[in-house]
Amino acid sequence: MRDTIRFVHKGQIRELENIDPTQTVLNFLRYEAALTGTKEGCAEGDCGACTIVLGELDAEGQIRYQAVNACIQFMPMLDGKQLLTIEDLKHRDGVLHPVQQAMVNQSATQCGFCTPGFVMSLVAERLGRNSSVTVDINNVLAGNLCRCTGYGSILEAAREAADDETVDHITKELDQSVQLLKELQKDGSLTLNWKGRRFFAPKSCEELAELIATYPQATLLAGATDVGLWVTKQHRNLETVILVTRIDELKTIDMHKDGLTIGSAVTYSAAWEKLAEIYDDLGELVRRIASTQIRNSGTIGGNIANGSPIGDMPPALIALNATLNLQGKSGIRQIPLEDFFIEYGKQDLQEGEFVRSVSLPPANEKSLFRNYKISKRFDQDISALCGAFSLVIQYIVVEDIRICFGGMAGTPARAFNTENALKGKSWSMENIVTAMAAMDKDYTPLTDMRASSEYRLQTAQNLLKKFFIETTSPEVDTRVLEERNAQYA
Ligand SMILES: Cc1cc2nc3c(=O)[nH]c(=O)nc-3n(C[C@H](O)[C@H](O)[C@H](O)COP(=O)(O)OP(=O)(O)OC[C@H]3O[C@@H](n4cnc5c(N)ncnc54)[C@H](O)[C@@H]3O)c2cc1C
Ligand code: FES
Ligand code: FES
Repeated sequence: MRDTIRFVHKGQIRELENIDPTQTVLNFLRYEAALTGTKEGCAEGDCGACTIVLGELDAEGQIRYQAVNACIQFMPMLDGKQLLTIEDLKHRDGVLHPVQQAMVNQSATQCGFCTPGFVMSLVAERLGRNSSVTVDINNVLAGNLCRCTGYGSILEAAREAADDETVDHITKELDQSVQLLKELQKDGSLTLNWKGRRFFAPKSCEELAELIATYPQATLLAGATDVGLWVTKQHRNLETVILVTRIDELKTIDMHKDGLTIGSAVTYSAAWEKLAEIYDDLGELVRRIASTQIRNSGTIGGNIANGSPIGDMPPALIALNATLNLQGKSGIRQIPLEDFFIEYGKQDLQEGEFVRSVSLPPANEKSLFRNYKISKRFDQDISALCGAFSLVIQYIVVEDIRICFGGMAGTPARAFNTENALKGKSWSMENIVTAMAAMDKDYTPLTDMRASSEYRLQTAQNLLKKFFIETTSPEVDTRVLEERNAQYA
C-alpha cells in the first residue's frame, strides 16, 4: 500500500506526498511546480490550452505517448506515468524541439496563449506516430482552439513538423524512460488521504469490489472527462474517489468466438481500431467523439456508466445488441445494455457493483450497420441526436432491425414502433415512409439549447430514410445491391 504519487518527470522518478487527490494536474503545474507554460483556457477539456503529454507502458513494454487535457486530470492520475510539459521540449543545449522550430519558422503564433497546447498535441502525435500512416493534422489538432492566427500558419507549421525527420531528445532518451516506467510498474495499489479526502487506485477487480463495498458512496473515476468537470465547473467536493484505470483486467479488448468484449477502462483511442475493423461506422463514431485529448482519456465504460441520454456510444452498442457485464463482490451479472438505462439519471447499477465490460455479438454477414451523429460542429461537440441502425435483410425482407437513438428521450432509447413497422416487410421506400410516421409514437423529444423537439423528431425520421437510401442506392453502397442481385440471380 502506498500513500505517495510516483511519476517520471525530467529523467527521474518524482514522488509527491500530501497531495489533494482532486487537485488538477494543471493547477499543480502552474501553482506548485511553477511550470506556467501550460495554460488554462476553459478548464473543461474544450480548448486544448492545457495540453500535456503522458507516456505509459503498453502490454509490450513500449511507451505510448498521448496528449491529454491537464485541466481535467487529477494529480493521482499521473501515478505510474511519464509527464511531459512544454518546458520539457527545448533541449538542454538550447535547441528547440522540431515542432517548436516549425511554429517559429511559420510565424504560427500571435498572442501565444494557445501555442503550448498546439505544440504538445503535435509532439504527442510525432512520438506516437506509425510511419506508415499519413498524418491527419485536422484530427490531431481538433481539440486545440486559437483565437488569433486563423489556423493557416499553424497548419503550415504542423505540416513542416510532420516532414521533419529529426530525432528529438525525448525519443533519444526512450530507453531510460522505459526503465523508469518499469520501476514504477512494480508499485502496488495507491491509497491517499488528504484532509478527509480519500483516493484509491486498486490494481485488481477483487480489490475494486472490496473498496466499493467498504465505501458505497465513493465516486468511481476512469478518464475524468466527465468527473473532472464536476470539480472544475461544479466545484463539487469528492470525498472518496476510486480510480479504475490502474486495473489491467479492465483495459483489455478481447476478440473471441462469441464476439468482442471491451473492458470498461478501455479508452476511445485504444478501442478505435478494433471497432472500426468490425463496422466502419463504429470507427467513424469514435472519430467524432470530442477530440484526440478527450479520446485518449475518456473510456467507453465511463460513457455508459454516466447514464447520459446524449452519450454517443450507447445507441450504437444497443443497436448492435450489446451485453453489459456488471461486477460486484458476489460475481458478474450480465444484462442487455438497453436494460441498464432505466430512466433519466437512473441506471441498473446495484449497490457494490461496477461496470466491468461490454460485449458485442459477432458481426453478422447479413447485417448492415450505420450510425449518424448530428451535432452543430463536426469535431469536439456533443450530439443533438445520435441514431444507430442495425438491419438484417433476408432476400428483400427485413428479418430483424434494431434502431436506437440518443438525444430523443431521457435515456438512449429503442424505436420499437418504427422497428415493428418494418419487421417482416419488404425493405422499400413505401414501408420506410410508414415506419417514419410510426416514429412519432416512439419519441417525444425535448427542446433544449442543442435542438428543438420538432427538429429532433424530423431529423430522426430523415435519418431512417438516409439509412434506407444508403443501403439501397448503388452510388452510395453497392454491397447491398450486389448481394441482393446475387440472391435473385
Ligand atoms: C470536451 C469534451 C467533449 C466531449 N465530447 C463527447 C462526445 O462527443 N460524445 C460523448 O458521448 N461524450 C463526450 N464527452 C463526455 C465524456 O468524454 C464521455 O462521457 C466519456 O466517455 C466519459 O468517460 P471517462 O472515462 O472520462 O469517465 P469519468 O468521467 O471518469 O466517469 C464518468 C461516469 O462514469 C462512472 N464510472 C466510470 N467508470 C466506471 C465503472 N467502471 N463502473 C461504474 N461507473 C463508472 C463515474 O463514476 C462517472 O459517473 C465529452 C467530454 C468533454 C469534456
Ligand atoms: S483549459 Fe481548455 S482544455 Fe484544458
Ligand atoms: S495565438 Fe492567440 S490564441 Fe492562438
